[in-house]
Amino acid sequence: MSVEVNTRRLTAIDIRGRKGGEPIVSLTAYHAHTASIIDRFVDFMLVGDSLGMVMHGLETTVPVTLDMMILQGQAVMRGSKRALVVVDLPFGSYEESPAVAFRSAARIMKETGCGAVKMEGGRHMAETVRFLVERGVPVMGHVGLTPQSINTMGGFKVQGRSEESAAAVLADADAIAAAGAFSMVVEGVVEPLAREITTRVPIPTIGIGASSACDGQILVLEDMLGLSPRVPKFVKRYGALGALIEESVAAYAEEVRARSFPGEDNVYQPKR
Ligand code: KIV
Repeated sequence: MSVEVNTRRLTAIDIRGRKGGEPIVSLTAYHAHTASIIDRFVDFMLVGDSLGMVMHGLETTVPVTLDMMILQGQAVMRGSKRALVVVDLPFGSYEESPAVAFRSAARIMKETGCGAVKMEGGRHMAETVRFLVERGVPVMGHVGLTPQSINTMGGFKVQGRSEESAAAVLADADAIAAAGAFSMVVEGVVEPLAREITTRVPIPTIGIGASSACDGQILVLEDMLGLSPRVPKFVKRYGALGALIEESVAAYAEEVRARSFPGEDNVYQPKR
């Protein structure tokens, strides 16, 4: 008798069903290998457009293209088999109209096989969210600090510090939830606002710089691993991979220069 073990990937519907339940765990992923390492620990992984900064050394996410997102989305899908994979719609690929957004989202879903897309924006994107959801695209929203709008926001600024700003973010969250998003990232907002949004909207909130009041958390993997040179206050470093890489590369360089690498164990010998 054979026993077939089928691992079913988590879906947007599964994540939606976690509102108010066990906290949702998520991280960004851009590569196959890191995706396979984190797969069993996270509920979803986000192929975030932060890859522009982390992988390509860009200053903002604005220059990131749809092709870049699709390439890394494919890698992450190959490396994972259990977690939901969500891919970011990059700046310029969806804001123009619901039809343009649908074309971009459909390309991402067809070419990567991912289970959902994420888009930044509040009330002004609600119509687009509804258009996509009605046509079979699960959408994760993203409100509060929205890095693709850096040029109109005037920097990476914490949102919701004034009553006016808090009311605007709340209205954005309400609109995105009402439009049918299955969850939403809440980024860079003050703690009471994150709590109020989470209490108010019927879908899970995923916080980044938004306190533990949210239904789940996300961090950029390289930030929490200690690979990024500078990280914001809201990041906790769970590892020191930058230092580990330095140490390892220094040891390798020393051994190559001393001709002690490759050693006996790393050399092929002829058959006798
Ligand atoms: O691009 C990204 O990594 C993100 C997360 C920070 C939520 O959008």
